[in-house]
Amino acid sequence: MNKDRKLIIAGNWKMNKTVAEALDLSRALKLELAGVKEVDMVVCPPFTALADVSKAILDSNIRLGAQNMSEHIMGAFTGEIAAGMLKEFSVRYVILGHSERRQYQKESDALVATKALAAHGASLKPIVCVGEMLAERESGQTEKVLERQVTGSLAGLSKEQMGETIIAYEPVWAIGTGKTATTAQAQDAHAFIRGLLSRMFDDTVARRVRIQYGGSVKPSNARELMSQPDVDGALVGGASLEPRSFGDIIKNSI
Ligand code: PGA
Repeated sequence: MNKDRKLIIAGNWKMNKTVAEALDLSRALKLELAGVKEVDMVVCPPFTALADVSKAILDSNIRLGAQNMSEHIMGAFTGEIAAGMLKEFSVRYVILGHSERRQYQKESDALVATKALAAHGASLKPIVCVGEMLAERESGQTEKVLERQVTGSLAGLSKEQMGETIIAYEPVWAIGTGKTATTAQAQDAHAFIRGLLSRMFDDTVARRVRIQYGGSVKPSNARELMSQPDVDGALVGGASLEPRSFGDIIKNSI
């Protein structure tokens, strides 16, 4: 595939896998993906498995991500995890503002922006998620929603920080439903987001930022999605829980 931007494919394990299961999956992925250099590959286990997965993928081409973090550096925030704590396990990426957190934990664009700044403060690369709900798409609001989320969730980032940020476009109606956006729907949304970045930052930044597609990505649709000019990778949920399907998504994308 001939793109300026290197593809980045991340597995979001969500609230799945005990430590033992996470270790099995990590070891299998390490074997399955040995030798792959064309794609940046990331796994995002639950917090409880970070330490062990970190050791298991040491000396491999797979990098570690977390699924969330606090906007605070330290202090009296019961149940929260700070960026500095993630760094102890060689975490490089952190998913922020996933639609499930926006929906169930009521995370706002402003909170996501504060978290993104805190992530950069600790040299973690944020994967900032945006995406419209089904009712919003059906009522023709997709671009309006994306504009609000992109401008709000990336507010305050410098050009340099933006260049090191990844965006995941995940239409909420495609997450875990088996319904994938058509390649045209994905490409249109990605191109729209890149246009917003160019207005908010500049053309150079917009050309540099990698935009992942997420929502029922599987081995059978990965190649077509990744072949779109503005689709630079994938954020994979369900299909990242098995070594074969995650491995095949990556291999089919090359
Ligand atoms: P899915 O999840 O691949 O299971 O649709 C994607 C995501 O939520 O990141």
